[in-house]
Amino acid sequence: MIRVDKVTKEYRTDHTAVRALRGVSLEIRAGEFMAIAGPSGSGKTTLLNLIGCLDVPSTGEIYIAGEAVSGKSRIELATLRRQKLGFVFQTFNLIPVLSAYENVSFALSLLGVDGRELRERTLRALKEVGLAGLEKRKPGELSGGQQQRVAIARALVKEPQILLADEPTANLDSDTGREILDLMAALNQTHGTTFVFSTHDPMVMELAHRLVMLHDGAIR
Ligand SMILES: Nc1ncnc2c1ncn2[C@@H]1O[C@H](COP(=O)(O)OP(=O)(O)OP(=O)(O)O)[C@@H](O)[C@H]1O
Ligand SMILES: [Mg+2]
Repeated sequence: MIRVDKVTKEYRTDHTAVRALRGVSLEIRAGEFMAIAGPSGSGKTTLLNLIGCLDVPSTGEIYIAGEAVSGKSRIELATLRRQKLGFVFQTFNLIPVLSAYENVSFALSLLGVDGRELRERTLRALKEVGLAGLEKRKPGELSGGQQQRVAIARALVKEPQILLADEPTANLDSDTGREILDLMAALNQTHGTTFVFSTHDPMVMELAHRLVMLHDGAIR
């Protein structure tokens, strides 16, 4: 489903270049529940952003469903991100002035869904993550774990094939982190959604079905 082929990523600032990835190759099959682990600065977020087409490699290639990402235009990449990929960020990235319902329905409306379908799918996604009854609350009126659930519902409502989560438990206490991970494992089972995490949380490493270790921008 995803193939990362000899990918390097160099970040250039004024006078220096940081080699964040130094030739990473990795294959992710449909339906996997896997984690990319490694110390801070090892390149996890960089790799996740490349897989998620939020950024492009310096060299090497990424294939999504057999198609090379480098051959795609900006518009094609935006469409691919919207239709096939879901993101859950460490800091949730919810829109503070919107309710839980509106945060989720807004994401779905960008796919052109409206009316009754928009309402039904939004409510179903929120229910699925255990937030039935809290639809009207704004992020500031929810706990960290509940905010993370809204973020998962927002990703899930689009029914993505791949869900990428950058340190999904980093801002949660360990019990809540465990609940969120159990929820994602259940969604992996029921929907067959492919999950790729970046993490340094031992609990996530343990529950992932496969673990890839990054050190200094390379897989060991
Ligand atoms: N936009 C950027 N510009 C310059 N350097 C960057 C940029 N983003 C990341 N880096 C550098 O690239 C390397 C890898 O960063 P990355 O964020 O991928 O690490 P990480 O494994 O996600 O770390 P953490 O666990 O702290 O989130 C680091 O040395 C980092 O400083
Ligand atoms: Mg990171």
